[in-house]
Amino acid sequence: MPTKMREWSWGFLFIAYAIASSIAAERNPWTERISGSAGDVLEDDPVGKLKVYVYELPSKYNKKILQKDPRCLSHMFAAEIYMHRFLLASPVRTLNPEEADWFYTPTYATCDLTPTGLPLPFKSPRMVRSAVQLISSSWPYWNRTEGADHFFVVPHDFGPCFHYQEEKAIERGILPILQRATLVQTFGQRNHVCLNEGSITIPPYAPPQKMQARKIPLDTPRSIFVYFRGLFYDVNNDPEGGYYARGARAAVWENFKNNPLFDISTEHPTTYYEDMQRAVFSDDIVLPFADAIPWEEIGVFVAEEDVPKLDTILTSIPPEVILRKQRLLANPSMKRAMLFPQPALPGDAFHQILNGLARKLPHQKSIYLKPGEKILNWTAGPVGDLKPW
Ligand SMILES: *[C@@H]1O[C@H](CO)[C@@H](O)[C@H](O)[C@H]1NC(C)=O
Ligand SMILES: *[C@@H]1O[C@H](CO)[C@@H](O)[C@H](O)[C@H]1NC(C)=O
Repeated sequence: MPTKMREWSWGFLFIAYAIASSIAAERNPWTERISGSAGDVLEDDPVGKLKVYVYELPSKYNKKILQKDPRCLSHMFAAEIYMHRFLLASPVRTLNPEEADWFYTPTYATCDLTPTGLPLPFKSPRMVRSAVQLISSSWPYWNRTEGADHFFVVPHDFGPCFHYQEEKAIERGILPILQRATLVQTFGQRNHVCLNEGSITIPPYAPPQKMQARKIPLDTPRSIFVYFRGLFYDVNNDPEGGYYARGARAAVWENFKNNPLFDISTEHPTTYYEDMQRAVFSDDIVLPFADAIPWEEIGVFVAEEDVPKLDTILTSIPPEVILRKQRLLANPSMKRAMLFPQPALPGDAFHQILNGLARKLPHQKSIYLKPGEKILNWTAGPVGDLKPW
């Protein structure tokens, strides 16, 4: 067990969706619709419900960065690039900012990769600040609300905190200039300084061709009881495992690495979603599009302190409960909502982001500032962030 395991107050840490291979009926291919407001909203068509103005920025904020490193198109944070492309061609885009409901600033802030492909967020704050400076001086829209009708795609580890180590991310907090904006991010931990109320959580990007390539036949017996994707230890920054994912990942590894029920692998397969349909074991991330997908009905949440009992907890779930969860997860609209296909398709993750933005409309009158009123502090935050980009 890691020695530095920290105490955290929130209620759950894991969603574990576990399937015992002995359950015969699990091969049943039928699916179940999540009825009522929750599941059905995945099929909403956002067209006609919102208009988005895409700021035209110099290419040094986006295209030039991508030209330098095309690997950015396939890493798990690539949604920032694909969302830009999607919006440029989307019918919700308006070329008239006066009629826009939302403003979008296309910066590829995660596209700075190490030789091994890990994104470095150190320049991101300066880049985003620079972009906001530019839009706020060249157009009148930012100053009207100081960003409250603007959205940003920030898919880093800790989203708008722009650091991959949690301690540092917490210390930094959300970039001050983005405090009023709507943040579209993969990071979603409740009660965390890096998640603002009203943010939209999205799935990580996975290359669609790889996701489509492998289709597991429905009658294949399930052999995976628990599936884990990710790292157990952050060997570079935290070899003891006390901080990374708050020690919980390390705890799972230590408790279950030799347990035959568990097939724990740290490899990064390309069949993320399909594997997930068989058995999901994910960490404390608040799951994507949580206002549209009732994840509590689909997953099993396990408290951090109960991690050592995970095997007992998962094997004692009644089969009919597991089957229902499987049927809900097997609904095609669920799968579609997790994907960023090229070209985009109705109901995909791009459309879910737009649906999320549309559900926030109309904006409250109170977001518009009085003449001369200022709320954001442009000089707050680490001094290093204030340097020009
Ligand atoms: C918006 O406010 C900033 C800071 O107060 C100012 O420098 C800028 O000129 C304003 N932008 C416009 C378009 O008036
Ligand atoms: C803005 O933040 C800086 C740095 O934290 C602080 O020194 C300054 O007093 C703040 N300004 C306002 C108006 O709150």
